[in-house]
Amino acid sequence: MNVNGRHYRTIWTEGEGEGETLFIIDQTTLPHEFRVRALQSVDDVCSAIRDMWVRGAGLIGATAAWGVWIAARTAPAGDFCGFMTRSMDKLRTTRPTASNLAWALERQKKALAGLSGEEAVRVARAEAQAIADEDADFCRRIGEHGLSIIKEVAERHPDRAVNILTHCNAGWLAFVDYGSALSPVYAAFDAGIPVHVWVDETRPRNQGASLTAWELSRHGVPHDLIADNAGGHLMQHGMVDLVITGADRVTRCGDAANKIGTYLKALAAFDNKVPFYVALPSSTYDFTLRDGVRDIPIEERNADEVRVVSGLSKGGKREDVLICPPETPARNWAFDVTPSRLITGLITERGVCHASENGILSLYPERRNA
Ligand code: MRU
Repeated sequence: MNVNGRHYRTIWTEGEGEGETLFIIDQTTLPHEFRVRALQSVDDVCSAIRDMWVRGAGLIGATAAWGVWIAARTAPAGDFCGFMTRSMDKLRTTRPTASNLAWALERQKKALAGLSGEEAVRVARAEAQAIADEDADFCRRIGEHGLSIIKEVAERHPDRAVNILTHCNAGWLAFVDYGSALSPVYAAFDAGIPVHVWVDETRPRNQGASLTAWELSRHGVPHDLIADNAGGHLMQHGMVDLVITGADRVTRCGDAANKIGTYLKALAAFDNKVPFYVALPSSTYDFTLRDGVRDIPIEERNADEVRVVSGLSKGGKREDVLICPPETPARNWAFDVTPSRLITGLITERGVCHASENGILSLYPERRNA
């Protein structure tokens, strides 16, 4: 996507040979400052994922894949296998909920089996690039498939914009490019279909306010930021045509883990007969799980993300502000699970399917025995 007239992916390398360096966009300073950072070591990559300089399921996976390349380049000659195993273990434990992380590491592990030294560096680089390119390509295709859903609403309401509600950030910042939930929005906007997005602020880290609103502004897509609790009211008053969210892990039966608060939106959508879609690339499925509420691990993060809000002061300085009595404890679950029965459909790179085992396997028949 374009930032200040330049095309950016969220992760890329510059330079060649030993001078080649991995870069990311630091998402913790957005929307107020656009900052690019270099990642030089496996510890840098782990911090980038854990501290959410990069975040979002697809981007976490791609970053971990590039982290394996960095591990291969920096592994000591006498302990290549041990170093690689420890590095992959460190990367795996940075964040527990998104499937894409373990998926990307598994791909790298298979690609590197039996290799070491220069050959391993070359193969790890090629695999990381392939994972990143595939992520961008799959997200572009999600946009094409989701476009037909938006088009269909637009045809029924030619007199006004299509109102889409989204939660958190599942735009290009959450992937390598394009995004999942926002990819159909960009495709519709670029096709000249009038769209308008209700952007949930998404407490506690406010990815909607800081990232989704920023992305949509850069692209010129009309949107309004709303308090997290406003969605149900808007749905009751016919102000939402569709909800589209991303996902961090989806079970083989269609239960979807996504940013905390998504489940409440799905309940409100169900009650108001508003179609609720989840957009995801295949790297987000976990075909080993059936019951998402019971089995998807939910990350619990630092309580200060709930107690402290950061933003720009009137003087233009970034500040952290405590919003509760200093002695008040908090709990901070980062994700929740929306059961498949509340999901109208899954928008994937292979098309749109019913959120059920049969629906998913109709698009991914090769996973029947996975
Ligand atoms: O904690 P984050 O910001 O990494 O959470 C991920 C998300 O942004 C959302 O849950 C998103 O909708 C799915 S990731 C494509």
